[in-house]
Amino acid sequence: MNILLLGSGGRECAIAWKLAQSPRCENLYIAPGNAGTASLGKNINISATDFDTIAEFCTENNINMVVVGPEDPLVKGIYDYFANTPALSHIPVIGPSKKGAQLEGSKDFAKAFMMRHNIPTARYRSFTADNIEEGYTFLESLQAPYVLKADGLAAGKGVLILPTLEEAKHELRAMLDGMFGNASTTVVIEEFLSGIECSVFVLTDGKSYKILPVAKDYKRIGEGDTGLNTGGMGAVSPIPFADDEFMQKVEQRIVIPTIEGLKKENIEYRGFIFLGLINVEGNPMVIEYNVRMGDPETEVVMPRIASDLVDILEGVATQTLDKKKLEIDSRAAVTVMLVSGGYPGNYEKGKVITGLENIKDSIIFHAGTANKDGNIVTSGGRVIAVTSYGATRKEALETSYRSASLINFEGKYNRRDIGNDLENI
Ligand code: AMP
Ligand code: GLY
Repeated sequence: MNILLLGSGGRECAIAWKLAQSPRCENLYIAPGNAGTASLGKNINISATDFDTIAEFCTENNINMVVVGPEDPLVKGIYDYFANTPALSHIPVIGPSKKGAQLEGSKDFAKAFMMRHNIPTARYRSFTADNIEEGYTFLESLQAPYVLKADGLAAGKGVLILPTLEEAKHELRAMLDGMFGNASTTVVIEEFLSGIECSVFVLTDGKSYKILPVAKDYKRIGEGDTGLNTGGMGAVSPIPFADDEFMQKVEQRIVIPTIEGLKKENIEYRGFIFLGLINVEGNPMVIEYNVRMGDPETEVVMPRIASDLVDILEGVATQTLDKKKLEIDSRAAVTVMLVSGGYPGNYEKGKVITGLENIKDSIIFHAGTANKDGNIVTSGGRVIAVTSYGATRKEALETSYRSASLINFEGKYNRRDIGNDLENI
């Protein structure tokens, strides 16, 4: 099978690593990819949202499946583009239809979907500039802190959590005045939930589903979960509190109603669903849906999938997922992200990365790297994800930190407390 994978981050490097292991995978292409994916398949210099050029490439190279990494192409409708173009409709796209992608593309749509299907989530209302006064009144009915969310995609920055009513009202006005452009024309205000978060990934063919290993990511730049938000500084899997009892609740209260809801509303969905969950006193509630895998969670989830991913994705494409067996590696997997100095603020690119050849005990997934003049250089804020297995999470972390210390580039930084918050749970 010839596969085209769209995207260029650590998530895509981990997916490429897993796809490339399959005896079913003949040619793997990654558009646009990075220096890591270049050693797993062939990088193609096409943007993941340039549908016309992607289509041309698929036809010319006899592509049998398109796997979509990031949300952008999905929200822009790549699934429908292929399904509705006669010359392409035989090529399955792993991902939701444009309508399904609204679960991530519009927080208002996602909240309304959860309400319609009785899926546990924070109480909310949505507002526009036309009813901002009602927004103020709704805020007054809530307790601090206040959660404001831009309805549309805002590069992961569209959620504000404000400590006082005054600030919440001020920020509501600013968001509706265009703080996030069109993404905040509508703002969702919701009740604040207190608990520990985790990421649950579901693969569905629209009829049945499989639940992938559960993970937790670490978003803040600083140790002890301090400082600015990043794209993710590390991840671990499994998660101690996501035990059988908790996962039963996730499946019964969230996964099944989500899949059934999509079916009832005739929303085509053949891809990954990412449930951002919060554990509120033992009860899972949905913080957000994403319509793709998480990053850096993928860098621990893919290594824990023991089955052939190509075979499973074929089950998704042909709606025979129920016939496939998903086997999970019982070991723990962790990833530690090496980032550029200054990230998530300003940082320099083009720093030569050394020591990668010395890594024997960990798996290296490239996030922001490029090939330049015979060297591998940094080309993003998040540079390299160092993933390790271990009999325990602690053992895996020790291995990742040891490997991380062997890799160097000017300004390298990584957190050293990944998973520490789970120690006493
Ligand atoms: P989102 O983009 O919806 O995932 O929100 C970003 C982050 O804001 C989440 O990962 C949570 O840490 C936090 N957050 C979002 N909604 C809530 C909520 N209702 N209560 C508490 N924290 C929240
Ligand atoms: N790690 C969170 C995300 O991918 O959105």
